[in-house]
Amino acid sequence: MKANVAIAIPTYGGIASNFYDFTIALISALQFKDIGFEFFTYHGDSLITRARNQLITRFYNEAEEKGLTHFLFLDSDIATDPNNIIKLVEWTLKYDIDVIGGAVPLKGFKDDLFQECQTFRLTYNDEQILSDNRMMKVDFLTTGLLLLTKKAVFDLIEDAKKKDHWYHSEYKDKKVVYDIFQTGWKESKITDKELGEVEFRHYLSEDWFLCNWLRDLGFDIIVDLDIKVWHRGIHDYRFCDEDEYNKISYCKQLVASKDRLWQVEDADDELINYIKYANKIEGFMSANECATLHNLAFELEEGLEIVEIGSYQGRSTSALGLGCKYGNKNKITAIDLWGLDIDRHEPEYKDSKYYDSFKQNMSKLGLEDLVTSIEGESTLVAKEWDKKRKIGILLIDAGHRYEDVKADFEAWYPYVVKGGKVIFHDYYGKFLGLVKFVSSQEGKTIECVDLIDTLYISKKL
Ligand SMILES: C[S@@+](CC[C@H](N)C(=O)[O-])C[C@H]1O[C@@H](n2cnc3c(N)ncnc32)[C@H](O)[C@@H]1O
Repeated sequence: MKANVAIAIPTYGGIASNFYDFTIALISALQFKDIGFEFFTYHGDSLITRARNQLITRFYNEAEEKGLTHFLFLDSDIATDPNNIIKLVEWTLKYDIDVIGGAVPLKGFKDDLFQECQTFRLTYNDEQILSDNRMMKVDFLTTGLLLLTKKAVFDLIEDAKKKDHWYHSEYKDKKVVYDIFQTGWKESKITDKELGEVEFRHYLSEDWFLCNWLRDLGFDIIVDLDIKVWHRGIHDYRFCDEDEYNKISYCKQLVASKDRLWQVEDADDELINYIKYANKIEGFMSANECATLHNLAFELEEGLEIVEIGSYQGRSTSALGLGCKYGNKNKITAIDLWGLDIDRHEPEYKDSKYYDSFKQNMSKLGLEDLVTSIEGESTLVAKEWDKKRKIGILLIDAGHRYEDVKADFEAWYPYVVKGGKVIFHDYYGKFLGLVKFVSSQEGKTIECVDLIDTLYISKKL
């Protein structure tokens, strides 16, 4: 009889059981695919940076002799479908990628001030990568689940040697350890509601330093958005559903929930009541995004106009409209297909009841005088636009495919004044076409000035 043993391991708490369940599943998957592997563990060091240095140095010392080809950082509180690990290995071979990982949900939610350092900054992708699956180039990924090729590790360590980044191990052997994982602070400018633009120092983890170093060496950092990752701690951190999960902006979307009332500076009781009403309008803008649109509209120079493409029931229009009402009374043109029956119109939005709701909302907010609505196709409306009417803010939030965004942008961009704001909504991993188009314009026609949740704010060059 062939023995077949059920091994029962009582574990208490998520991290221990996570480690068992996941590593055992991973071993089976790797064996099934006939991929060689070896576990490197390192215990007894409470400092994660020092432990990571030990592990990467060990890989460097043993890779040649053992024929190791890849180095996977897999923290013990991380889990994913084991096939995803195989997929990452395969992508490196297929696409000649040296650094790739999954988007790991952060443990907990941070205050707005930290947005910059906890967010992936999306950059332009390669056509070849995009056509096959949902991978994209980012500036930063966490080391919780990160695969490096031998080349990436060796280049890092050779560079560390050149820079004299090494120390002696604490152990008796006093072996050389390369100092790859560093931490520190970085200064940048942020806009604080009370203080305005201030210099702010972020404390950055070893992941940031590693990715920065790799990019300096010419490596692309790639994230595969199809990989779901669980991060276990006192709570099981994961992106709530497919949509949330796909949001590359980490937990920002979860924090900036639509239910939270958006706040603006110096709001009197009247404005607060209007905002309370506007906040209940069905739509897709988060609280942060509404507040941002409101502030931009409030500050807009007199005489310049606002054009919004894709108004739906008026959630974003109300944020812009209230800004103008309490600001320089700039005019807004809100364009949407609403009840029109044309091919390009997505069924979920095709209903004249949304136009009725839009008009009712504008009326309730006392915005009829400032907001003109046009039920029409954006690019056709643009053809009729009077060139003398100068646009200071253009908000593009209609069709989200590459060709839709391109068409809307090309139709309206010429009417925007130099330095005027061109804003795109939903700049995140789910809408790769949109991200790709926007990235293709960076430095050519527009320059990014801010990224609030998924609102990409640029100015016309
Ligand atoms: C995501 S919704 C807009 C959400 C809105 N900005 C908000 O804050 O809730 C997209 C809208 O764009 C409209 N739309 C799509 N393609 C369009 C086009 N070519 N011209 C005008 N409107 C369009 C749809 O009818 C839909 O109402």
